[in-house]
Amino acid sequence: MKLTAEEIGENWDMFLSYINKYISSPRKEKLLDFYKKFEERLILMPASYKKEYHNAFPGGYIDHVNRVIECCLKVNDVWVEMGVDTSTYSIEELVFSAINHDLGKMGDENHDSYITQDDNWRRDKLGEEYKFNEKVPFASVPDRGLFLLQAHGVQYSFNEMITIQTHDGLYDDANKKYFMSYSPGQKPRTSLPFIVHQGDLMAARIEFEVEWLPKLRGEVPKKDNFKVKLTDKKIKDKALGSIKSNGLNDLLQKL
Ligand SMILES: [Fe+2]
Repeated sequence: MKLTAEEIGENWDMFLSYINKYISSPRKEKLLDFYKKFEERLILMPASYKKEYHNAFPGGYIDHVNRVIECCLKVNDVWVEMGVDTSTYSIEELVFSAINHDLGKMGDENHDSYITQDDNWRRDKLGEEYKFNEKVPFASVPDRGLFLLQAHGVQYSFNEMITIQTHDGLYDDANKKYFMSYSPGQKPRTSLPFIVHQGDLMAARIEFEVEWLPKLRGEVPKKDNFKVKLTDKKIKDKALGSIKSNGLNDLLQKL
């Protein structure tokens, strides 16, 4: 899948508009400052390093995060309809967790986690479009994301911490302690981690289906199926404006 420069720019605007709409002040301003500081890195980042995984192309990360936000809002509607205890979490916590669930993929303050693959054999044979940057010390994606937020003065609630930490559900063995306890006292006190995990799973699965099922059938993927379906059609009206950096515009034009 390849996004055009215009699509990448639109996705970034949409991403900022979620912060503007769902996150309350003064945390909203802190979060916007954080994302604007790293705009040039995040806007072109892939969501994974290997083309068989989801959204391993320029702009794939923000495209994935926008889809996760939308999926989480939809999944939440189903949980609400089926009687989830909504007093245990807020919509701001839901959207904040979705916005930041994969932030640790960014790398650290100064270095990207995913850098362009320079080994042609690995790129051709293994589909590794990117490789891990060894300048970045190892940490799990949730640990790194939470560290980055606190290092920039963005506070998060207990619910948000647990939700970001466990967003991979039981795909990450480290989450067994939250999801496989049989003692009521050791189970999460809110369903938020389950909702965000389901939203993330749904988004990644759909990204796989749109990109790979046509290829497996010998067809060309239809890019129209790939557009994030907005819950709130007016959300783009709240966008904070288009990309201002000349350097970034130049980068996008070269795509
Ligand atoms: Fe994700």
